[in-house]
Amino acid sequence: MERTFLAIKPDGVQRGLVGEIISRFETKGFTLVGLKFLNVSRELAEQHYAVHRQRPFFAGLVEFITSGPVVAMVWEGDGVVASARKIIGATNPLTAEPGTIRGDFGINIGRNLIHGSDASETAKHEIALWFKEEELVNWQPHLTPWLH
Ligand code: TYD
Repeated sequence: MERTFLAIKPDGVQRGLVGEIISRFETKGFTLVGLKFLNVSRELAEQHYAVHRQRPFFAGLVEFITSGPVVAMVWEGDGVVASARKIIGATNPLTAEPGTIRGDFGINIGRNLIHGSDASETAKHEIALWFKEEELVNWQPHLTPWLH
């Protein structure tokens, strides 16, 4: 079953949007298999955003993601990587569609509330970076075969 890595960034936590954001994936029908609340080390932040190392916003991004606690999650379901990206919305909240998390709650590209893996391979890499195998819960909801 496909998995993706999602993280509610410090702004989402500070603004009290943790429940609202988790609810979007839960009510969609995806399955939560990993969840932790943590302060992100500089090392983890730099590894997570390594592809952006040369970009002008890299330092600010690392500063921001380490500025307060983050909710790190792994969600499971057919097509979850692409679907979660749709639920999250475009990178810039100002242009993200209403109805998406960023479109509904954000106005600043540097404060866009949530991270979601952009592809299946990236998801595998990010899940391994943030979670130990034993921190993931292998389970399936029963009685609801139309959800996954
Ligand atoms: P990116 O991976 O392009 O976006 P997404 O989170 O939608 O996959 O960029 C990673 C984060 O970097 C993005 O969520 C916010 C930040 N960022 C900026 O601050 N300024 C920028 O111009 C871009 C492109 C990203």
